[in-house]
Amino acid sequence: MAPPAPITALQGVSVTFGGRPLFDGIDLSIGRGDRACLVGRNGSGKSTLMKVLAGMIHPDGGTVFVQPGARIAYLPQEPDFTGCATVHDYVVQGLPADEQDEAHRVDAVLDRLQVDGNLDPRTLSGGESRRTALARTLVGNPDVMLLDEPTNHLDLPTIEWLEEELLAFRGGLLLISHDRAFLNRLAKRTLWLDRGTVRATDRGFAEFETWQAEVFEAEDAAAHKLDRKIESEMKWLPRGHLLQAHPQHGPCPQPAGPACRPRLTDQGLTACEARHLHSLARRPAGDRRRPPSPRASTRPRAARPSSGTSLPAFCAATGWG
Ligand SMILES: Nc1ncnc2c1ncn2[C@@H]1O[C@H](COP(=O)(O)OP(=O)(O)OP(=O)(O)O)[C@@H](O)[C@H]1O
Ligand SMILES: [Mg+2]
Repeated sequence: MAPPAPITALQGVSVTFGGRPLFDGIDLSIGRGDRACLVGRNGSGKSTLMKVLAGMIHPDGGTVFVQPGARIAYLPQEPDFTGCATVHDYVVQGLPADEQDEAHRVDAVLDRLQVDGNLDPRTLSGGESRRTALARTLVGNPDVMLLDEPTNHLDLPTIEWLEEELLAFRGGLLLISHDRAFLNRLAKRTLWLDRGTVRATDRGFAEFETWQAEVFEAEDAAAHKLDRKIESEMKWLPRGHLLQAHPQHGPCPQPAGPACRPRLTDQGLTACEARHLHSLARRPAGDRRRPPSPRASTRPRAARPSSGTSLPAFCAATGWG
């Protein structure tokens, strides 16, 4: 089935706070009927990405699309009640500009969430402030809801009430939550923010760990393949490149050993260079580090062997064996 037309979408989005980008080249979209969760480690940038979708942060690169006329409601991880004398004042901000006179809708949603609209928001408990923030998100009949940790501080009956509301919601939904049961019940699609990029799957959160293991396995296989390719290509490097990379070896003291001779002769490699390539080939699978550069190496500088040293003795002396 074709994915729903996006109500809001990001294309090639990047955000940087100071040094390295927090994320880069992010594409994602939320359509009608979507119920996606955004997961990732603490500090990976989930809240920041959601703020970009909500229009609270302007990205350093890329574009943010919102279907003309669409209503996007955002529940922040930490609600800010600054400038609101009462709960009612805060919730009414969730109504579109041309519907501000429909105060009865504020009363109705506060009634459902059991918060007194006359309270001063600075005096609210954690649960009351979360319910107040939810009321502001729900009151405007949005097309898309972006909810950052909606179940924080909520008691079980309120979480169950919220789950039913969200299951009945026909718009697009993006959830960030550490509440696994909540995500298992609601998320039909999973977006994983990892190492600065977003991966997406049409599997629900219940299958996240299986999917994550598959992704890591595929990455390891690709890295192993790349290692093999690099190793194989290094064998064909012209001799001058290796001498440049390892000038301390100087001219090789030995002709190639019999086992290596055909290849070494073809490529004009010396025994010393060949042993170095062999040592690279013995790195364990998955070791993606570059070989240590001569300058960075802690290996004692190799003594140049005297003329006539055997190949095994020379390799032991240089540490390439
Ligand atoms: N306005 C800002 N200025 C500088 N750095 C910021 C700003 N906002 C967020 N960060 C940094 O960006 C990183 C990601 O923060 P963010 O809150 O988006 O992560 P998160 O994935 O939501 O984390 P958590 O799971 O703990 O809620 C953090 O290291 C945070 O300190
Ligand atoms: Mg966060």
